[in-house]
Amino acid sequence: MSAFRIRPANGDDARILADMLVEAANGNSPRVRPRVAVLDDPHVMRYIAGWKRPGDFGCIAEDAHGAAVGACWARLFPANAPGSGFVAVGVPELTLGVNAQWRARGVGRALLQELGRAAAATGAARLSLSVDRRNFAQRLYVSEGYVTVESRLTADTMVRAVR
Ligand SMILES: CC(C)(COP(=O)(O)OP(=O)(O)OC[C@H]1O[C@@H](n2cnc3c(N)ncnc32)[C@H](O)[C@@H]1OP(=O)(O)O)[C@@H](O)C(=O)NCCC(=O)NCCS
Repeated sequence: MSAFRIRPANGDDARILADMLVEAANGNSPRVRPRVAVLDDPHVMRYIAGWKRPGDFGCIAEDAHGAAVGACWARLFPANAPGSGFVAVGVPELTLGVNAQWRARGVGRALLQELGRAAAATGAARLSLSVDRRNFAQRLYVSEGYVTVESRLTADTMVRAVR
């Protein structure tokens, strides 16, 4: 049994989110981009730049020693500078990443569920995301109630109502 706990993400967690953003950006692709290249990419950095901005919220999974092993967070984007999974102003777009050593142990699903609860507390009516259709994470999102609202070449934009 893998012991982990989940806590809210706070303003001091930018470094942890950067680590998890690198995991998320590399997805489950065998082609792993180095951390510096990922974090040099403005299309990736827009998910954490200036963390924690008004409207940002998230949660972090930690191991028994308090080391971060995964994170899920959400951010609001304006219509003139949308994220990849943008659907509308006021709909936070989430990012999810788990350390490679901690994958397939329930951390990702637990983070996703906790982010849903955190979204409800903010009053958001929906959550959105963008996922590569070849990534098994797409099935994880479907099983957590996300529905595809737009399909591009290899990516789906998915949305879930917040209850
Ligand atoms: C995608 C990711 C966040 C999922 O987190 P995780 O902790 O590995 O997932 P969980 O252990 O909670 O498993 C969730 C489901 O995915 C399935 N799953 C886990 N790893 C899998 C794999 N390698 N292949 C296929 N299915 C897998 C699990 O079986 C589980 O389904 P089940 O409950 O029906 O058994 C994580 O693997 C990750 O960080 N991957 C790289 C980054 C990424 O792709 N992020 C998403 C970008 S949109």
